[in-house]
Amino acid sequence: MPDVVELIITKRDGGHLAPDDLRWLVQAYTRGEVPDYQMSAFLMAAFIRGLNEAEMDALTDAMLHSGRVLDLSDLPGRKVDKHSTGGVGDKVSLILAPLVAACGVPVPMISGRGLGHTGGTLDKLESIPGLRTDLSIEAFRHQLRELGVVMIGQTDEIAPADRKLYALRDVTGTIESIPLIAASILSKKLAEGADALVFDVKCGRGAFMQQEADARRLAETLVGIATRAGRPAVAWLTDMNVPLGRAVGNWPEVVESLQALRGNFEGIEDLIEVTLALAGEMLWLGGVAETPEAGRLLARAALTDGRAFERFCAMVQAQGGDVRVLERPETRPDAEPAGEVRAPDEARGYVADLDARAVGRLAVHLGAGRRVKEDPVDPTAGLVLHRKPGDPVAPGDVLATLYTHRRDRLEDFQQVLLAAYRFAETPSPARPLLLARYAEGRWTGYVSDSR
Ligand code: URA
Repeated sequence: MPDVVELIITKRDGGHLAPDDLRWLVQAYTRGEVPDYQMSAFLMAAFIRGLNEAEMDALTDAMLHSGRVLDLSDLPGRKVDKHSTGGVGDKVSLILAPLVAACGVPVPMISGRGLGHTGGTLDKLESIPGLRTDLSIEAFRHQLRELGVVMIGQTDEIAPADRKLYALRDVTGTIESIPLIAASILSKKLAEGADALVFDVKCGRGAFMQQEADARRLAETLVGIATRAGRPAVAWLTDMNVPLGRAVGNWPEVVESLQALRGNFEGIEDLIEVTLALAGEMLWLGGVAETPEAGRLLARAALTDGRAFERFCAMVQAQGGDVRVLERPETRPDAEPAGEVRAPDEARGYVADLDARAVGRLAVHLGAGRRVKEDPVDPTAGLVLHRKPGDPVAPGDVLATLYTHRRDRLEDFQQVLLAAYRFAETPSPARPLLLARYAEGRWTGYVSDSR
């Protein structure tokens, strides 16, 4: 049996651990045989010294095998999933999963909750009255077979080592480590039984990776571990300096997703651009399109002809959600606007910038996210942006509508949102959204290091 203190010292001094020792450490920690204080010391050493490829693969593998690993090979089709590293207004999964399924590629999706200023797919789905995300593995398999799409939360059975390690990292200052993040994400994604993966690695103020160089390294690490584990993978680096789409918050984002699923792209062209790029990759990896570009065209057709919307409604119904509210989402009685934010006198010309992180933090305060783990989430809280960077603006124009039940703080909220905007007399050049693609060991469409 390895000596835990020796393993910690080896990592502390910049050495490399044998894969078997690392596996043993994770297994022993998960069984409760290594205490939190020793694991914390190891995590900090790994945070500072990093992990090499063999160590990352062994760590991921040990975390993956700490729980149930689904085998979906008896179900037809190549299953493909996508993972986003998290952003503000990122409702892509809600549109993408039924869209890709409607095009013939099964999507088994296990999603997370909001983290910090970023939203989570699970919270968004659960804002649909009645919808359940706590399906058993058996129900998950059944729905995937019947509908080709299922979206649930992580169960206790999937990667329990990650749950325990993540909670420890959260309180020991060891979250922001690329190898630890990659192992954490992949231990869950590899456990859900997808044959291939697409990663949307967000980069910028509203993302966890604010620097492009870090985001690029995370993308390479995610694709590398997945590929070595036998799952072909592609990553897109996408800009997250400005919120994606116009809605931020759980129900507001469902409403915007319904707009997209109905084929109405007006005002949400950025959201559609990212969704279709990722859909194209998934359809290519799933074997129904010859190229990612051909996949993108297939996906666009399924959005505009209503097939994606139908599949979304079928999924909501299968998971116990109220589909009637999807028909006329704007009539939901508990989703009344609380107020508006209007452009100030100096706003003459164009919106020059809007800080995604500030908007994400505001959404949390409006009630859409959690300040502490136990906070309940207000399903209808959030905001809808009527002016985004590049849009013309004049004093008094409505910049945004706020949705909150904390109405006593409305004035503060309005000031916070105003402070996140910048205005200019002339329009700024549009920023590219799809920054670069990483697949088969190389980057393409890379823009520049300076962004
Ligand atoms: N998301 C995860 O699942 N794990 C991390 O470590 C960070 C983000």
